[in-house]
Amino acid sequence: MAGPILVFDSGVGGLSVVQALRQRLPEAALAYACDNAMLPYGQREDAWLVQRIRAVCEAAVAASGCSALVVACNTASTLALDVLRECLAIPVVGTVPAIKPAAQLSRTRHIGLLATRATVSRPYTLQLIQDFAADCRVTRVAADALVIEAERLVAGELPDRTILCQALAPLWEDPDLDTVVLGCTHFPLLAPWLAEAAPRQVTWIDSGEAIARRVAQVVTVFAPRQGDTPSFVTTPDERLGRGLATFGFASPRLLHPA
Ligand code: DGL
Repeated sequence: MAGPILVFDSGVGGLSVVQALRQRLPEAALAYACDNAMLPYGQREDAWLVQRIRAVCEAAVAASGCSALVVACNTASTLALDVLRECLAIPVVGTVPAIKPAAQLSRTRHIGLLATRATVSRPYTLQLIQDFAADCRVTRVAADALVIEAERLVAGELPDRTILCQALAPLWEDPDLDTVVLGCTHFPLLAPWLAEAAPRQVTWIDSGEAIARRVAQVVTVFAPRQGDTPSFVTTPDERLGRGLATFGFASPRLLHPA
């Protein structure tokens, strides 16, 4: 029998992808896993991170009995998708910054990429820009502080407006920039606050819908949603557990990555 679709992130960012998946596949059983012990991923060294992502995903796939894995993390996907596809026997869908749709939408040909420090400088990201936005100016902004603000939000606190404004500031240096890619899955959770903190109107784009579309193509037979929706963490955290509950997940179980 088919298992749930497992959504993986370092922290709560994957919940923005969960929202998109529930819209597109409301009947599908989901599970959620996050490596909260090692959050934030955006500040970690690449070689170490690849091994860690592999170990956590292997443990979570085994524990959930899932039929597909959604790597709902740009920082992990731009680094470790190939490794995960090699070591796992199930379909793996990744998340990469929505550079292509942003380039299609921008009228001024100046777009912003808001992501973790790691994602904004990865060769994978630079290649995406070259392939799909070669005729655009792309302002890349490392905004790791927003990861923590999204974590705080899901834990029940309001984001700090000063931190948001500081993180966004480099985007506004050129009045021509008209489109901003949210290249970290944590950021769509902050969408209303980001829009409010922006000094002018721009188009914000994330990858949630595109991922859900891709999952619907890849996972043709899925387990129906019923009973508990399991979640997995790598270190106990009561506030995170309460946050996951507000997104419909059962009390998290502890993973033991090798
Ligand atoms: N949610 C993750 C992403 O999409 C990154 C958060 C982190 O730095 O751990 O890149």
